[in-house]
This record gives sequence, structure tokens and C-alpha cells, in this order.
Amino acid sequence: MNIGILSRGPQLYSTQQLLKAGQMRGHRMFLYDPTFCQLRLDERPAVIYEGEEVQSLQAIIPRIGASITEQGASVIQQFEMMGVYSTASSGALLQSRDKLRCLQRLTQAGIPVPRTVLVNQPESLPELLYAVGGMPVVIKLLQSTHGIGVLLAENYHQATSTIEAMIRLGSRVIVQEFIRESAGVDVRAFVVAGEVVAVMCRQAANGDFRSNLHRGATATPTRLSPLEEDLVKKSVKALGIDVAGVDLLRSRRGPLIMEVNASPGLEGIETITGVDVAGKIIQHIEKRLRKARVLSQVFTEK
Ligand SMILES: Nc1ncnc2c1ncn2[C@@H]1O[C@H](COP(=O)(O)OP(=O)(O)O)[C@@H](O)[C@H]1O
Ligand SMILES: [Mg+2]
Repeated sequence: MNIGILSRGPQLYSTQQLLKAGQMRGHRMFLYDPTFCQLRLDERPAVIYEGEEVQSLQAIIPRIGASITEQGASVIQQFEMMGVYSTASSGALLQSRDKLRCLQRLTQAGIPVPRTVLVNQPESLPELLYAVGGMPVVIKLLQSTHGIGVLLAENYHQATSTIEAMIRLGSRVIVQEFIRESAGVDVRAFVVAGEVVAVMCRQAANGDFRSNLHRGATATPTRLSPLEEDLVKKSVKALGIDVAGVDLLRSRRGPLIMEVNASPGLEGIETITGVDVAGKIIQHIEKRLRKARVLSQVFTEK
């Protein structure tokens, strides 16, 4: 098969692992920087890369950084229009990158999430802070990643001044109940094609409550309880994502899904758990395309 990876960093761990995993399984792997893809819209939509039309790709694996979400989604959509399978659809990528939309979709599917409010007008803050259970609260920019743009406000004045400043700067903000009992620990479950393939527990660095590996957290392999596994599977289904990193908090009232990442990194999860996640993603593409071929044969034979 011909498989394309959309990535800005050929040297990045995840990109390298996917390239190697594909090559090892006998596929031709191609690398495209999404910011250099030209999109042609006419009766035969195409992606032009380095002056040439990209042809005969069967699948793409997007590795889209937060700074180029919109641009990346446009390129994915173009490939979708060309009939190329993507491990993250453009819609799912956009939805998962917006924390509010992601939580809305989860809530709609009946999945428990931390109590959350969107702050539009700073004037309504007292009621909103009360609605999530009072202080302390977690304040999040809607588009944060790697824990940047997520902070803890211990008291009312801290919360209001921070939120007012964020809104004044034009940011959209959500406020969430602080799950204190999770004690800086969250669980990342990696899902491929609806199955949980690897799970790790991340512990925040001393003095921090954010358990992002980019913020110096440490991680260990762990397992999900049957209830957690069920919620994780329901979450990816609700967002329609084939390859995802689902983060959950272990709260007093049970597991809460915090977010679903559509372009999850491989380095942490592979090194901590020893699972060949890149290989599993390639295997999933093989299966998925085999199924599509069989279906199209059945369709044309009719
Ligand atoms: N409501 C919360 N209660 C307790 N800890 C939280 C809460 N929300 C986030 N955290 C911690 O902060 C980290 C970053 O938050 P997250 O929403 O995942 O933002 P990002 O997308 O930037 O990673 C989480 O991994 C978790 O450790
Ligand atoms: Mg996160």
C-alpha cells in the first residue's frame, strides 16, 4: 500500500516510528508537510506537493500540531474528497481540538466529564464558579495542549482576575471543577480501531497538578477497570475517531473523561508500555482498506 504521513517534523519520534512500522510491513511510505500542500479544487480535486500531484495514496496518517489545526484539517479534508482514508477525519480533528466541543459531544453521549462551564461574560462569574462546585477551579483556554493554558485558581479573586484577563485578550475560556483526589495523576488510554492497545498513568511533576509529559510528568504502565474501558471506548465512538489518546481522571465519583486527542503522540506511550503502537496503527489501516476493497467488489459485482 501507499501510505502518507502528514507531519511537519520528519525527525519526530512518532513520525519516525510510523515510517518504520509501515516500511517493515512492506508498504511505501511518503511524508508530506501539511503546510506545503497545495489544494486544487475542480472536478478532480488534488493535493499538489513540491509541484507534483499526489497520486495513488490509499491512506494518510495525520500528525497535526495544535498550531496548524485548521490548515491540517483542510489538507485532510482534501484527501478525504479524493477517497483517501485518514486515521483522523478532518471533522474529528477539529472537534477534538476544541475542548468545549469535545466535552459537549461526550456529555451528549452520556459520558461523565468534570463539571464544566463556558465563560462568556465575566459578570456572570460568581454563579458560574458556584455551578462547578466553588473554589479551587481549573481554568482552561479552549485550545490548550501540552498543559499550556491550563491553570489552577485557588481563590475567587485569583479566578476572576485570570478569567477576566483571558477574556480581555480575546480567548475563550472554560472553568472546571478541580478533581483534587486525582492528585496530579491522570490516565492516558491509547485506542486504535475501537480497542484499547496501551495504557499509562501519568504523575505530575512536584508542585504541579498537570500530568502532561511535556510538563515534566513521569509515567508508568497501568490497566483500565472494566468501567473505565467501557467509557474510553464509548468516548472514541462518540467523537468518531479511529486512532485516539483518551485521558481520564479517577475521581471520587468514578472515572471522568477529560479529553480525547485525535493526534496523540507515540513516544511516551510506546516507551512506557513497550507496546508497538505504530505497528498497530499500520495494521489497522491494512484491515480497514481490505474491508473497503471487499465492499467495493461486492458493490461492483451487483
Ligand atoms: N478538572 C481537573 N481536575 C484536576 N486535574 C485536571 C483537571 N483538568 C486538567 N487537569 C490536569 O491538567 C492536565 C492538562 O489538562 P488538559 O485538559 O488535558 O489540557 P491539555 O490539552 O493542555 O493537555 C491534565 O492532564 C490533568 O493532569
Ligand atoms: Mg491533556
